[in-house]
Amino acid sequence: MSLLELDGLTVRYGGVTAVDNVGFTIEPGTLVGLIGPNGAGKTTLIDAVTGMVKCGGDIRLDGQSVTDWPAHRRSRAGIIRTFQSLELFMELTVRENLQTYARPHAGGPSGDPVGYALERLDVAWAADTYPSELSHGTARLVSVARALAAGPRLLLLDEPAAGLDAQESQALGAKLRNLVDTGVTTILLVDHDVDLIMNVCDDIQVLDFGKRIASGPPSAVRENPEVARAYLGTDTSAEPVSGGTGGAA
Ligand SMILES: Nc1ncnc2c1ncn2[C@@H]1O[C@H](COP(=O)(O)OP(=O)(O)OP(=O)(O)O)[C@@H](O)[C@H]1O
Ligand SMILES: [Mg+2]
Repeated sequence: MSLLELDGLTVRYGGVTAVDNVGFTIEPGTLVGLIGPNGAGKTTLIDAVTGMVKCGGDIRLDGQSVTDWPAHRRSRAGIIRTFQSLELFMELTVRENLQTYARPHAGGPSGDPVGYALERLDVAWAADTYPSELSHGTARLVSVARALAAGPRLLLLDEPAAGLDAQESQALGAKLRNLVDTGVTTILLVDHDVDLIMNVCDDIQVLDFGKRIASGPPSAVRENPEVARAYLGTDTSAEPVSGGTGGAA
């Protein structure tokens, strides 16, 4: 059974249809990319799946509709997100940031969800520092670690590589792939770093103006003319956009 099923997912903001009748599934143990130009509806889709905006259509987790569940019930069920704008708590240390999300079942072999999540993202060294003391790249890793400490079954990452250089982005990709391959969580990865998406994802979904315009394995999506037109451009070696919206919400 699919872990997540989206069926006719629709989100409207006044006259704007930010997510327009989108349907796809995410199988357990996979890393699924979600790409598309600025304003395509990627963050809004994460908002809808996590219960942070009202939507039409149906969202099913393990075959059960969660569309009417409040956000806290969905997070309890393992639907956990990060934010494009990080949203780390600046007055708390990294460890304290993770403690706000931590749930006992996420502790791995040691039974310590905070220590485990910090280790998995290679940021244990930063545990007692404050977010303001961290490089942008490390702060991004901490935001992923904080979500991991909540014990996700489905981890929805909103541009975790924004502002990272190519090497940092590649390292992040390897960590995410490892989380999936070791059965820790299933991941939906939103990012504008096309190399990252193409290198680590099993399957890619493409949005444009709220509509799903393509899907499939990286090789097929890269060659899809509709995707090239809407997002990748004709020269797929070129950056489609200037690194996403970074810290902007
Ligand atoms: N709270 C809101 N109120 C009104 N319109 C909104 C709101 N949030 C998003 N939108 C609109 O919905 C559409 C989708 O926005 P969304 O932020 O989901 O795009 P995105 O794919 O995440 O873009 P980006 O790559 O820039 O992060 C855009 O037209 C945006 O202006
Ligand atoms: Mg966004």
